[in-house]
Amino acid sequence: MATAPRLAPSLLASQALAEFSSDVIVGLGQPGQKELPSKYLYDEVGSALFDVICLLPEYGLSRAGMRSLKRYAPDIISRLDGSFVVAELGSGSGQKTRFLLEALSRRQRVNYYPIDISSSALHRCQQELGEMDRVSIVGFERAYLDGLQEVAARRRDGEHLLVLFLGSTIGNFDRPAGDQFLRDVRNVLREGDALLLATDLEKPVPQLLAAYDDEAGVTAAFNKNLLARINRELDGDFDLSRIQHIVRYDEAERRVEMHLRSTTWQRVTLRKARFNFFLREGETIWTESSHKYDPQEVPRMGERTGYRCAGQWFDTEWPFAQNLFFAV
Ligand code: AVI
Repeated sequence: MATAPRLAPSLLASQALAEFSSDVIVGLGQPGQKELPSKYLYDEVGSALFDVICLLPEYGLSRAGMRSLKRYAPDIISRLDGSFVVAELGSGSGQKTRFLLEALSRRQRVNYYPIDISSSALHRCQQELGEMDRVSIVGFERAYLDGLQEVAARRRDGEHLLVLFLGSTIGNFDRPAGDQFLRDVRNVLREGDALLLATDLEKPVPQLLAAYDDEAGVTAAFNKNLLARINRELDGDFDLSRIQHIVRYDEAERRVEMHLRSTTWQRVTLRKARFNFFLREGETIWTESSHKYDPQEVPRMGERTGYRCAGQWFDTEWPFAQNLFFAV
């Protein structure tokens, strides 16, 4: 796969480490609830653990995304009028995307632009989709909106953009931040461009809690790896034997929250960041929120952020929706 030019790898890596260090200091240094941004769950170890999560019997979300696109991709694509280039926010493994690209490439040649900050994710996507007929791939190793702007600038007159945001990653934003993200994407689009947005839907609380606290402890390892990553990259000394993975459902916000709870008082030093702090016994660090949606609220999210919803497709086994929005 061709990859769009970018900064030298060493410069990128040192910028990324500086940003990580500063976000960690802000999140752990604040008074009240300590927090870490969930995007930092996905270093190489975390991404590998996430791939295993997607195989767990308790976590039906990714299989629902896959099944729904396998079944409905031709119908979804049939709703698009004209010629489209495809940009995907987060390249994922590429497996789900294949169904959409296959359907679209039956009627046109397709330029597909996966956008991901991880070069290894882009590489895997190339391995999965690189051999497809009538599909050419250029990866963008960028933050979502930066990459999307570059893709939008490349398209020719008369070409529409289909943006894919699969996997229900929108659920990892707070609801207001999710709306803002949809607006930011809309600002890059032209009228008639499309956004395919996947959303995980509300379901019984015990089912949700099990999905994020599986019996084999894979999600616990995924969550704890964030502190292990801080130990590795910022020369920290979190004692992970005294950290527990905690999952809660907030009924009012309709979200699953992942936390890391210290079972005892501990003092933590991050030598590379020149930062230290205490965790009290029982204190938690909030690491991720996964918002769940009512099917009817999703079209309203689109309407208030500059789109109209042209269709919703539901998985039959795990409440989950693919939602097609057009920019208005
Ligand atoms: C990527 N994201 C949609 C997943 C989710 O369900 O919120 C991440 C995840 N966290 C724990 N398990 C899976």
